[in-house]
Amino acid sequence: MKLANKVALITGAASGMGKSAALIFAQEGAKVAAVDIDGQQVQQTASEIVKAGGQALAIRADVSKSEDVQRMINETVSHFGVLNIVYNNAGIEGDSNFFSNMTEDQFDRVIAINLRGVFLGMKYALPHLIKAGGGSIINQASIAGLVAVRGGAAYCASKAGVIALTRVAALEYGRYNIRVNAICPGAIETPMAQRIRKGQPPDPRAIQRISVLGRMAEPEEIAKVALFLASDDSSFATGAPFVVDGGWTVS
Ligand SMILES: NC(=O)c1ccc[n+]([C@@H]2O[C@H](COP(=O)([O-])OP(=O)(O)OC[C@H]3O[C@@H](n4cnc5c(N)ncnc54)[C@H](O)[C@@H]3O)[C@@H](O)[C@H]2O)c1
Repeated sequence: MKLANKVALITGAASGMGKSAALIFAQEGAKVAAVDIDGQQVQQTASEIVKAGGQALAIRADVSKSEDVQRMINETVSHFGVLNIVYNNAGIEGDSNFFSNMTEDQFDRVIAINLRGVFLGMKYALPHLIKAGGGSIINQASIAGLVAVRGGAAYCASKAGVIALTRVAALEYGRYNIRVNAICPGAIETPMAQRIRKGQPPDPRAIQRISVLGRMAEPEEIAKVALFLASDDSSFATGAPFVVDGGWTVS
């Protein structure tokens, strides 16, 4: 098992890629603190882990709020005794608008959850990872942090910011044996993607434009990359944005 005796905290674990990672990390032996703003659904994730024979703790928290982030980390450490892995995955798509139509509140909300949330998640977890003698942090960025998407001023800026935070943290904490990497997924079939499509099925022409493989990915295909980054399999990887986009950005 790749994560035996490790404690992993995963945000956004009620749905999509975060839920998938919670289940896969637990299968690989990790004790999982599953965190989400949706307390009921994240309890469901934890119950699925326990039913499958694993160990899990469900925590309701809003990653944009400092007191919630401090509480989720403190509860994890007091419950499991240590913290080794943090997957800062929670995020929102926000409202898509060109600059002149994007309200300041729309911009601020996306930055608060997607960027400030990752900053807080690292700021308050890092002392515990140092105490544990090292660890791995995985931050969920997006290819939208690398290329422009129309209507995505807030979302693209937030995800580019996540890549920047990842590099700075890797630089500052490498000497403590802490690795910090980002994942940049392309189009993944999750509730977020379904909301963006307003419940419509994927448009085959759009899929051809956004993946040379001609399909979207399943959440597990990203969760397995998170597992790689969480485990010793990626022992020399740090500060890197891992593009997992089915070839969206090859041209
Ligand atoms: N789906 C995609 O195509 C795609 C592509 C690239 C990056 N991403 C990113 O991947 C991450 C996961 O997305 P997903 O597609 O699995 O979405 P999702 O909507 O299925 O899951 C996101 C989870 O985050 C939680 N969440 C939202 N705001 C929160 C907050 N303030 N505090 C705590 N939890 C909160 C939600 O309740 C939800 O359970 C996000 O950061 C997203 O930006 C998604």
